[in-house]
Amino acid sequence: MLIQPILTFLAAIGLALAYQHLPPDFKTTQNPIVITPLGSIQGSTLRTRLGKTIYAFRGIRYAQPPVGELRFQPPVPIEKHEGVYNATDDKPMCPQPTTDPTSEDCLYLNVYTTKLPSGNINNVKRPLIVHIHPGGFYSAGSASYWGGPQYFMDQDIILVTFNYRLGTLGFLSTGEKEAPGNNGLKDQVQVLRWIKQNIEAFGGDSGSVTIQGYSAGSISVTCHMVSPMSRGLFHKAIAMSASGTSQSPIGHNLLDFARRQAKFVGCPEGNAKEIYNCLKTIPAADLANSLPKFAEWGTDPILLWTPVIENDFGQERFLTAHPITLFMKGEFTKIPFMTGVTTDEFAFRSLYVIENSTLLKDINENWEKVAPIPFQYERNTEKSKNISRALRKFYFNDKPIDQSNLNKLGELYADSMIGFGNNRAVKLVSAKNTAPTYYYKFSYQGDYSHNYLPGTNNTKPYGVVHHDDLIYLFYISKLFPLFGVDSPKEVGMVEILTTLHANFAKYGNPTPGHSKVLRNVSWEQFNNRTEKYLDIGTKLVMREKLFDDRYSEWERLFPLEQYA
Ligand SMILES: *[C@@H]1O[C@H](CO)[C@@H](O)[C@H](O)[C@H]1NC(C)=O
Ligand SMILES: *[C@@H]1O[C@H](CO)[C@@H](O)[C@H](O)[C@H]1NC(C)=O
Ligand SMILES: *[C@@H]1O[C@H](CO)[C@@H](O)[C@H](O)[C@H]1NC(C)=O
Ligand SMILES: *[C@@H]1O[C@H](CO)[C@@H](O)[C@H](O)[C@H]1NC(C)=O
Ligand SMILES: *[C@@H]1O[C@H](CO)[C@@H](O)[C@H](O)[C@H]1NC(C)=O
Ligand SMILES: *[C@@H]1O[C@H](CO)[C@@H](O)[C@H](O)[C@H]1NC(C)=O
Repeated sequence: MLIQPILTFLAAIGLALAYQHLPPDFKTTQNPIVITPLGSIQGSTLRTRLGKTIYAFRGIRYAQPPVGELRFQPPVPIEKHEGVYNATDDKPMCPQPTTDPTSEDCLYLNVYTTKLPSGNINNVKRPLIVHIHPGGFYSAGSASYWGGPQYFMDQDIILVTFNYRLGTLGFLSTGEKEAPGNNGLKDQVQVLRWIKQNIEAFGGDSGSVTIQGYSAGSISVTCHMVSPMSRGLFHKAIAMSASGTSQSPIGHNLLDFARRQAKFVGCPEGNAKEIYNCLKTIPAADLANSLPKFAEWGTDPILLWTPVIENDFGQERFLTAHPITLFMKGEFTKIPFMTGVTTDEFAFRSLYVIENSTLLKDINENWEKVAPIPFQYERNTEKSKNISRALRKFYFNDKPIDQSNLNKLGELYADSMIGFGNNRAVKLVSAKNTAPTYYYKFSYQGDYSHNYLPGTNNTKPYGVVHHDDLIYLFYISKLFPLFGVDSPKEVGMVEILTTLHANFAKYGNPTPGHSKVLRNVSWEQFNNRTEKYLDIGTKLVMREKLFDDRYSEWERLFPLEQYA
């Protein structure tokens, strides 16, 4: 009976001793202060879904503003700052067409935790999840209204989210020494370097970093796995709904894009150097707002800027060969790896085609010319025409595309944009990985979605589409309510997904033991004989050979040998 008061008393003395190393502000939990090797940082507090206090440090600068002479340059690390840095609110996102705040000065990150070290003693060491946001390399960001920590922070992990440069500002690549490319990805590396240097001050374990990315962020994750720049900076990886191992061509430059960007903003479409010099003088917002002009067929292609294989000018190169080539050779960071897709991914885009008579006529009459644009493969070659013919036969049995085969067009969007690349990634990684590889399909259909059927006033989801699993990992206050007692089904999936991810971040295994939340499921590893995956739906069930007939056709059309 006496023990509890004594422990409380001892704890109070311990805390008092610990606090004396810190500025007085730290004691007011409203304004937590952390002292990093680069200076003091003051945050604010938020609440988790279950009511725990989140210490939120939002808008921490991790690189010098990439403006003026630093535009189109790799990120430059920051110096130590004097005084207390104010990290109490979201900073603007990187330039993109949106009504949300944006600024070219956008290289900021957020750190969220529920337990800070007491004083300058390393007495808290939590694993990290570093989330790389989606948005096609040209949109979105890490503001807490898009990536709220309220669900993840009921798990004992640290969450880091961040902005990286987008569009032309992040991915200009002329293939020459002024602009070899990949700056948006080098920003991501700079975040990982900042974490290595500073995260212990927040109670983070710099030896347990899980990179988790969605869509363009997932392409990024697979690229970090083969990048010499990222080696040693992370220890586990989650690649959600996309991969750098799809059929989308990855070249040595995006010169064609640079030329088009130049034209859209009135710059001369001359040689690489002239384009570079002129684009450097254009207001960032003008570059960003010309995004819609890059569309070529309807609003396709979805993916515009991509990573490039950097030519060698003596610079630090992010990507030195095609990711598929490097995975095939086993030249990648071998770590616990989790990847997967949602059931329907981009299937909803089939509606835009079927419901638009211009597009529908065009795709039917000019299939070989049109198909490589939305489905993103090599264009205008004999091989391309062969591939187009084969896809038409496989998905539509050479019949006209119309309402009757809408679901087939949906599958084609899902497989081409997301599914095949992910499936190839899980096979390539598991064949040479020395750590476990896990594969999933997210098939849980809740009431909320990123796409609803037309005419249903946002009450009937199209399916389980791209981004729908993010609804249960992050509080996306821009679009959805905070799930609580009114949403028991959603809360159930929040608990499942955040537990799987946190387990993976802690143990490299999403189901390390029997768990009631996870309904005792044991997520078996993927290998190329059984091809097991976890179906995450209303039940959690192990299954085999995800969409095997569909992905086999893509394997046949894009044989690995061509990357050897
Ligand atoms: C920190 O920044 C926020 C918003 O950016 C502002 O409201 C607040 O007053 C600032 N705090 C201090 C101490 O400067
Ligand atoms: C149909 O697509 C064409 C070509 O992209 C576009 O110009 C037109 O506005 C679209 N029509 C509708 C009704 O969305
Ligand atoms: C295209 O397909 C034809 C018939 O299947 C084949 O003979 C030819 O080699 C293919 N060409 C290319 C470039 O793949
Ligand atoms: C299948 O995986 C094993 C390792 O589990 C690997 O040795 C083998 O090369 C893989 N086969 C193929 C075709 O990738
Ligand atoms: C759509 O739903 C909103 C909110 O539930 C409601 O206010 C509105 O009246 C609905 N509109 C139609 C056309 O049903
Ligand atoms: C989970 O496993 C425990 C212990 O083995 C068992 O008591 C429980 O009934 C199981 N629950 C379910 C839902 O299978």
